Amino acid sequence: MVKIGRNELCPCGSGKKYKKCCMKAQQESQENLNELYYKRYNIRLKEEKDIEGIRRAGDLVVRTLDMVSELVQPGVSTEHINQRVHEFTVNNGAVPAPLNYSGFPKSVCISVNEVICHGIPGEYELREGDIVNIDVTSWLKGYCADASRTFKVGEVSEEAAELVDVAYHSLRHGLEQVASGNTIGDIGWAIQSHAEGRGCSVVREMVGHGVGFEFHEPPQVPHFGQKGNGIVLVPGMVFTVEPMINLGGRELQVLEDKWTAVTKDGSLSAQFEKTIAVTAQGCEVLTPWE
Ligand code: MF3
Ligand code: CO
Ligand code: CO
Repeated sequence: MVKIGRNELCPCGSGKKYKKCCMKAQQESQENLNELYYKRYNIRLKEEKDIEGIRRAGDLVVRTLDMVSELVQPGVSTEHINQRVHEFTVNNGAVPAPLNYSGFPKSVCISVNEVICHGIPGEYELREGDIVNIDVTSWLKGYCADASRTFKVGEVSEEAAELVDVAYHSLRHGLEQVASGNTIGDIGWAIQSHAEGRGCSVVREMVGHGVGFEFHEPPQVPHFGQKGNGIVLVPGMVFTVEPMINLGGRELQVLEDKWTAVTKDGSLSAQFEKTIAVTAQGCEVLTPWE
């Protein structure tokens, strides 16, 4: 968010200094919005200093994903990736958010092929042709950021590559809707239209979420929906968009371990995730991986 200096000209065009003109009214309207969003939706809007904290956590998450991208090779175990993520996070003064979160046993989620999300790292060794989502969430100086990417292990089948491309573009279309005045439904609508338009399905049970002060906070951000539905986006909202896209049906099943979510029909699933802030100008991605 660009800050107007107290002594600069007021943006309303009065010709007066900002502090002598609209400054107070604007501060009050932001305070009213904070209160309204908290009372009505339990959403805690973020100030510039909070966004800066989440941006720093996000920068570390991006660097972690870049680091793991080099590890994604046939023969590498998901537990090895978990250890590297853990070390890298701690060595950068941060804490891996997944570890012990509601009892999750590892520092990162790694979801291979038909695993939709929340895969637990273990002995499994990556194989040529796999697609693997690595979902990194870090706490840095009291702020949390969350992002994931799906990687291809060596050469993958044409249908796997197509699915990864659909998931990637689904996220992009969702993020394009993030602007003050749009709604949460606009995001889901854009994602669902793209993914279903390309013959894939969208998981319903798992959604994007507010993030920053906590790992998961309100609002929920579904990856399906209708234009114009849901909460209106306002500056200071920070949340994830993280569509999970299946090649087959959208139904999900959670394994005995209580975490691993897989497609019911065994078809492949892919996901990409970013943390994004709504600003007065539009939006800012706080985990800008590419
Ligand atoms: N990172 C996941 C998300 O995008 C949540 C993982 S919860 C965990 O929301 F406990 F499995 F880490
Ligand atoms: Co998330
Ligand atoms: Co995540």
